[in-house]
This record gives sequence, structure tokens and C-alpha cells, in this order.
Amino acid sequence: MAIEPVNVMEFQQLAREALPKMYYDFYAGGAEDEFSLKENMEAFRRITLRPRVLVDVSRINMSTNILGYRISAPIMIAPTAMHKLAHPQGEVATAKAAAASNTIMVLSFMSTCTVEEVASSCNAVRFFQLYVYKRRDVTAALVDRAERLGYKALVLTVDVPRLGRREADIRNKMVAPQLKNFDGLFSAELESDSGSALEAYANQTLDASFQWKDIAWLKSITNLPILVKGVLTGEDAIKALEAGVSGIVVSNHGARQLDYSPATISVLEEVVHATKGKIPVLIDGGVRRGTDVFKALALGAQAVLVGRPVIFGLAAKGEAGVRQVIETLKTELELTMALSGCPTLKDITRKHVKTEKERLL
Ligand code: FNR
Repeated sequence: MAIEPVNVMEFQQLAREALPKMYYDFYAGGAEDEFSLKENMEAFRRITLRPRVLVDVSRINMSTNILGYRISAPIMIAPTAMHKLAHPQGEVATAKAAAASNTIMVLSFMSTCTVEEVASSCNAVRFFQLYVYKRRDVTAALVDRAERLGYKALVLTVDVPRLGRREADIRNKMVAPQLKNFDGLFSAELESDSGSALEAYANQTLDASFQWKDIAWLKSITNLPILVKGVLTGEDAIKALEAGVSGIVVSNHGARQLDYSPATISVLEEVVHATKGKIPVLIDGGVRRGTDVFKALALGAQAVLVGRPVIFGLAAKGEAGVRQVIETLKTELELTMALSGCPTLKDITRKHVKTEKERLL
């Protein structure tokens, strides 16, 4: 009998048992030494809480607004590629779970279900993640379809001018499936004699010359708000503001791109300070506990996004598994708020956490 997970980490083992090694390694792995992969989680552990007692916590309200859309808790689904490699229903199952948990799913540009299939499968608020391809017309076509289909925002991923070296994928010669979203638009070379075909595919398609000024091009082809995902410094946060984006996602791509990039939670405050409250700042990377969500909010994030745990939930139990992952994080966050004396998200302040640096002072 498989164990019944009591926290989101326990889904990882179930996913490992459910998946072929090549796919499990693809989902679980990071770049090179996987230093940042471990750090994303460890850095959360180095932050402690400063709870307040004797506050009325008989009712806890976790609901929040993201770009004007109300969701049940500040926990969203990060864009991750190719959900059909985890479960036959793919992104449709994930989207249904997002709807059931009343949260926002960010659909990956590299999805295995089409933008149309996901849109018609449920009434979740959906955002659409973008890569800019050398073939700008391909990106523009997807933007146009997403906008017509009622996706509410674009999440432009800015940390992949080229694909990071994910050594497990190189060893396993990770495959690159033909993605249905691109049918009729273009076909890429999906074979690689050596190493990861995904890397070969990415490096063939991605526009490594795309820069801050080119966000004007994206704005010229859409009316949707644009979030940039992959900012890790105050300097770039200021550039994002200047480019007129509607929000930032602090992210190191789940440590799959530049190894030794900082743990995201360790740079969140720097980005929040640089934006001076002008636009919302979200974060992803290593969120595995309700306490992690609480820490991110205390350090200025409006919400977190969750990547791997959602995929592991999907691999283990399909839609129900994704729902269980989100609901478990919500349960933990609610309890953390109660035990910290914070009945609403507004009550969570900077003074509810102590970073490692502050502890050493
Ligand atoms: C990702 N991520 C990602 N990001 C993106 O913008 N587009 C994508 O297609 C993908 N694909 C993808 C696949 C897999 C298997 C993983 C694990 C990650 C990055 C993702 O959005 C997010 O930044 C991280 O997953 C967050 O870290 P955690 O929650 O996985 O630790």
C-alpha cells in the first residue's frame, strides 16, 4: 500500500515510484551541482518565526487578490512544462485542481495540452507563461490565442536565453515531444545524437537576443498585463518597473537555469524594496510548507507559486493529487497564521520573521 502523504514533500517519493526515470529526473532535477536547488529550500529553513499570542484567531482569512482576481489563498500554480509526461490528462487535470482549490494556474508555454483544451476544461483564472522564440510570430500567435481564450495575464519568463545544463537530462538523453500548441506554426528538430534533446530544442528556438527594451514589442501585441518571471536583483526590478510591467516573479526557475543563483527567498526583500510597492511581487522556488508561504508574505511577497510539488501530486494521483498538494499547503498556512497571531494576510508583517542575518546580529 502506498503511503498517504501528510505533507507535500511526501508526494515526491510517490512520483518517483509512478514515473519512468527519465521523466522523474526531468521534473526533480536542477542545473549542474544543484546547489541552488538545495538552497531554495534550505534558505526557508534558516528563517524563524516571531509569533504573537493572545490574538483572536478564531477565524482565519487567507483570501487575496492577484491583479484584481480573488483567490482562496496566496498559493498559485507555477508554470511547468509537459504535464502529460506526469499524467495522461496533463495540464487539464492541473487546471481542474486549480479551479477546485480556487487558485490561479499559470499555464506553461511548453504545455502538452493546448491552450484551448485547458481553457475549455474549467473556469479557473488562468495566466499564460511565455517564452520569446526567434520566430516571433510563433510567440505572437500564442499570445493572441491566449488572450482570446480568456487568459488574464502573461507571465514572461526572462531567465532562459538558453537552457541550463541539467545533467540528469543530458545523461538520460531527455526527449522533446512535439507540442500540440505549435501544430501548424512550426516544427523543430526534436532529435539529438548526444545529450538532452530538450536542450537542443530550446537552444534552437529561444531568442537569446531578447532584452528589456523588447518588452515594448510584447506590449504592442497584447492588452494583457505582463509579469516578468526570473528577476533576482534590485537592479533588474527597477528595469522591470521602467519597462512598465504589472508585476514581478522572483524566481531562479526552480534552480534549473543558473546554478549558484541565490535562493529566491534570500533576495525577495531586495526586489520588494526596489519596487517600492508600485507593483506586486510574487515568488517561487522551494516552497514546500505553509510556514514557507508565511515567511514569503512576511518578507513582502503578495503570493507564492508552487512548481514541483504540483507535478509530483499530478504524477501520484492526477487531479486529486494536485488538489491535495494545494489544500495541504493551505491547511498548513492557515494553522501557521493562527499560531502566529495573524487572522488575516494583512496581519503578517516583517516583524513576524527573523532572517539568519538578523539572528546573528
Ligand atoms: C519549470 N519551470 C518553468 N518555468 C517556466 O516559466 N516555464 C516552464 O515551462 C517551466 N517548466 C518547468 C518544468 C519543470 C519540471 C520544473 C520543475 C520547473 C520553473 C517553474 O515555473 C518554477 O519557477 C519552479 O518550479 C519553482 O520552484 P519549485 O516550486 O519547483 O521549487
